[in-house]
Amino acid sequence: MSQDVSNHPVPEAFAKQANLTPEKYAEMYEASIKDPDGFWAEHGKRIEWMKPFTQVKDVSWDKDDLHVRWFADGTLNVTESCLDRQLETRGAKPAIIWEGDEPDDSHTLTYRQLYHAVCRFSNVLKEMGVKKGDRVTLYMPMIPEASMAMLACARIGAIHSVVFGGFSPEALAGRIVDCQSEFVITADEGVRGGRKVPLKENTDRACDLAKGMVKKVLVVERTGVGVEMKDGRDVWLHEVGAEVDDTCAPEPMNAEDPLFILYTSGSTGKPKGVLHTCGGYLVWASMTHEYVFDLKEDDVFWCSADVGWVTGHTYIVYGPLANGATSLMFEGVPTYPSPSRFWEVCDKHGVTIFYTAPTAIRALMREGDGPVKATDRSTLRLLGTVGEPINPEAWEWYFRTVGDSRCPIVDTWWQTETGGTMIVPLPGTTKMKSGAGSHPFFGVVPKLVDAEGEVLEGATQGNLIITGSWPGQMRTVYGDHERFVDTYFSAYPGNYFTGDGCRRDEDGFYWITGRVDDVINVSGHRMGTAEVESALVSHDAVAEAAVVGYPHDIKGQGIYAYVTTVQGVEPSDELKDLLQKHVRSEIGPIACPDLIQFAPGLPKTRSGKIMRRILRKIAEDSYDSLGDTSTLAEPEVVDELIDGRQNKA
Ligand code: WT7
Repeated sequence: MSQDVSNHPVPEAFAKQANLTPEKYAEMYEASIKDPDGFWAEHGKRIEWMKPFTQVKDVSWDKDDLHVRWFADGTLNVTESCLDRQLETRGAKPAIIWEGDEPDDSHTLTYRQLYHAVCRFSNVLKEMGVKKGDRVTLYMPMIPEASMAMLACARIGAIHSVVFGGFSPEALAGRIVDCQSEFVITADEGVRGGRKVPLKENTDRACDLAKGMVKKVLVVERTGVGVEMKDGRDVWLHEVGAEVDDTCAPEPMNAEDPLFILYTSGSTGKPKGVLHTCGGYLVWASMTHEYVFDLKEDDVFWCSADVGWVTGHTYIVYGPLANGATSLMFEGVPTYPSPSRFWEVCDKHGVTIFYTAPTAIRALMREGDGPVKATDRSTLRLLGTVGEPINPEAWEWYFRTVGDSRCPIVDTWWQTETGGTMIVPLPGTTKMKSGAGSHPFFGVVPKLVDAEGEVLEGATQGNLIITGSWPGQMRTVYGDHERFVDTYFSAYPGNYFTGDGCRRDEDGFYWITGRVDDVINVSGHRMGTAEVESALVSHDAVAEAAVVGYPHDIKGQGIYAYVTTVQGVEPSDELKDLLQKHVRSEIGPIACPDLIQFAPGLPKTRSGKIMRRILRKIAEDSYDSLGDTSTLAEPEVVDELIDGRQNKA
């Protein structure tokens, strides 16, 4: 066999207490495929409805009439599931455990406290003039107010659009304008790894760039640093919040009314506003959260993602709260003040389920076993990963060193578009192979296809498609339904194309191999190469740019940029610095190229198309297998590129 595959049985002690068994999984999976309507009619009831649905699935993936609707005649408000219904039996249970950037800074909010805080927050939004259907942009640090802001929007029927706090003012402005958001919620500053992030200042700049679009800015006090408040536009949460009621009636929403927009990178330049709606999304978030994580009443669940990504939406806020779970929220970074921090937090709060990204595992693995072994971790019973394929070495280290070979690992494959987990070794139901996404969740039918759309059977490799809808599926690209149809349903008509490549082994396990489009995955974050290219080209010194990914030890993929300068501008190290700074300010630090190579020209076909295949090979330092270059307009540029490559072994 080509790959060293470790097979791990389910640890015995875990299997004994698992919610699922292999038989139960098989039975439920079969039911979900044979009779989706019956299956989801039952599981749709797991959330709170104001008016119960009678319709279940109403979906067409036909290009000419593409629509996705679930539970379409039901009425609900998602915050009733997340808050109101928890009060009776879980009012005093911790809903959010917040761990600040500094180890001595933490506090807990019970379900009752969170409920009242969200109601207050909702009333503040109303005071500001936010109405049902309005878009509200959140640009927040990892503090409980971020979750409250999301829930408050949901409570009054406004649509939240969370923009990751690491994005630049330019990127924030672009997302504000795209969804015509007149309201922004931010904080004075964020704090991460001992450093301050000037969120309010960035917001001011974004508001300027958005040219009058933003009418009101709500500011949460995090550090108390003095920030400028613009008269008539800016308000403090603690000031208005003190004057409003701590109850607020939930707005009745149709199941298919929008809940949130979340921007994500695609193959083309502009990020897409992925739209999720109320009913189906919450069913999917809560159901996957319960089954993927083998949830029990006393669990302390920690998802280390940022609320700026879909992982934070589904597994810090909506999934755990809809299930009445205790969700830990961490403001800081894995290595501050020391590389033991993650595990110290686990000990401090008795974390039982821990969910993080392969990039964090690799970074911590590099620090050796010491920082892990200095901690206890005995409360942990289940570990999870998400965001990119996990290499077997990192998987084994996570399993043995972090989990003491006691905790199963759930490697969860999903996307912003899917709302929640799609492919996963559900704990207790399957042996584990280090690095395999393994098996479909209930209701999910994956298939592998070749470039022509031919379905491939048995042990094979191909492009990953999903053949039918699931409740958590995105509904459209905000304001651009056409783009939704084109992006996901045109490559393999009648099916959802994931953009990922995938292998299926002899045992039927799925192994995600990574993106097959022009999207790269940097530390588990999606980055469109076209987005970075247009940021580079917007600099005066740049005539042309081509961006590709290359293997990176910690980040999974690094960003490699080929840049051609305009006439009269000489390449230099200073210019590299300038260009890196420029991309940071156009998009944010996560988009900053790791390596820049100045190129006299780029390899193009005679019709002018850049041959990325060749650029990828050179960036990977594997240029002896460049394949056919005879169709190039100027084959000599290839030798020059090879000579000047930046990633020499
Ligand atoms: C892309 C989606 C889902 C939340 C975080 C990322 C890659 C995600 C895995 C995994 C292999 C994975 C895929 C996917 N990906 N999880 N467990 N194994 N690859 O969400 O930013 O929408 O990115 O991340 O390539 O398409 P996203």
